[in-house]
Amino acid sequence: MNFRIVTVPGDGIGPDIIREAVKVLNKVGEIYNHKFEFTEKLAGGIAIDTYGCPLPQDTIDACKKSDSVLLGAVGGPKWDHLGGNDRPEKALLGLRGELKLFANLRPAVLHKQLKEACPLKPEIIGDSLDILIVRELTSGIYFGKRGRVASDNSAFDTLYYNVNEIKRVLKVGFESAMKRKKKLTVVDKANILETSRLWREVAYQTAKEYSEVSMDFMYVDNCSMQLIRNPKQFDVICTTNMFGDILSDEASMLTGSIGMLASASLGEGTLGMYEPIHGSAPDIAGKNIANPIATILSAAMMLRYSFSLEKEAQAVENAVMQVLDEGYRTADIIGNGVNPVGTVEMGNLIAGRIK
Ligand code: IPM
Ligand code: MG
Repeated sequence: MNFRIVTVPGDGIGPDIIREAVKVLNKVGEIYNHKFEFTEKLAGGIAIDTYGCPLPQDTIDACKKSDSVLLGAVGGPKWDHLGGNDRPEKALLGLRGELKLFANLRPAVLHKQLKEACPLKPEIIGDSLDILIVRELTSGIYFGKRGRVASDNSAFDTLYYNVNEIKRVLKVGFESAMKRKKKLTVVDKANILETSRLWREVAYQTAKEYSEVSMDFMYVDNCSMQLIRNPKQFDVICTTNMFGDILSDEASMLTGSIGMLASASLGEGTLGMYEPIHGSAPDIAGKNIANPIATILSAAMMLRYSFSLEKEAQAVENAVMQVLDEGYRTADIIGNGVNPVGTVEMGNLIAGRIK
C-alpha cells in the first residue's frame, strides 16, 4: 500500500532522530511491500528563522492532506526570548489544534533490558512496567483564553472544558483500557477545580458504556506521588492536557530514559501525529548522540494506529527489543558492559533487524 507521510523534523536533535525513523520505515516498506512517501515540512524555530512564523500555512495544509505526520521536536534557547504566540512551541499546539488531535497516547513502558536504568528500587518496579497515559490534547488550559491586564498588573490563563471534549477523550481512555487490563484511573483535581468535577460527571456517565472496565478517580497530586510509591497499581490513566503533560514526564523517568518514550496524537479519523515525548535537546543536536528509539517507536505507533499495519508495527518493536537485547545503547541509557553506539548506528541496527 501507499502512504503519504509528512515529516516535521523541527529543531535541535529533531532532524537527527527523524532521519533514523525514516530509515526504519523505508526498511519496513521494502520488506513488507509498502510505499512510504515522505514530504518534509518546517515548523518550530527553524520555521521562524526561515519564514518568520513558527507554523507556516503550507505546513498545516501539507499535514492535513497527508496520511500521517511524524514530528521530531521544536524549541530551543535561541527562541526563548519570543512572546507566547511567536514561540516554536506554538507550532506544536497549532498542529494539534488544526489537525483536531484530541487524544494523546503516551505509553510508559519499562523494558526488562533497561531495568537498571529505572531509578526505583527493584522490589517496587518488579520485572517490568506498562502504563498508558491518555492525555487530552486540544483543550484545557493550553487552549483557553490568556492574556495580560495592564491596568492591574496581572496575567491570566483559562482552564476550560466542555462535555464533548471530555467525553471523546474519556472514550479513548475506556477503549484503551478494554484492550489492556480493563482498569482506568481518571486523574483530576476535583477537590478544587470545577472542570474536574465536570470530568467526574462525564466519567460516571461514560463508564455505563464500559461495564467491564473498573474506573477510579485520583487527585493529581496524589497520582504524582503514587507513580513513585507504587506505579504498578496503574494501567490506563486518563487526564487533562496540563496534568497529562506533567505526569507523562514523571512516568517517563520510571522507564529509565525520556529518550525511550513514543507518543501518538489521534483524532476522529486515521490521520495522526507521532512524536517522541522528549524535547529538542539543542546541546546534543547534530552530534550523533541522541537516542532515536522514542521516534522509531512513534513510527511503529503510526503503523499501528493510522495505517492498521499491526504486523509491521510489531516488527519495528521487536527489532528495537532485539537491539537492546544485544546490548547496544545510546549515551542516555548507557550501563555496564553494554555496547555504546551513536544515533546513526542505532538506526542502522534497528533497520537491519526488521524481519
Ligand atoms: C509535550 C511538550 C509540549 C507540551 C511543549 C513543547 C509545548 O512538553 O509534548 O509534552 O507541553 O505539550
Ligand atoms: Mg511535556
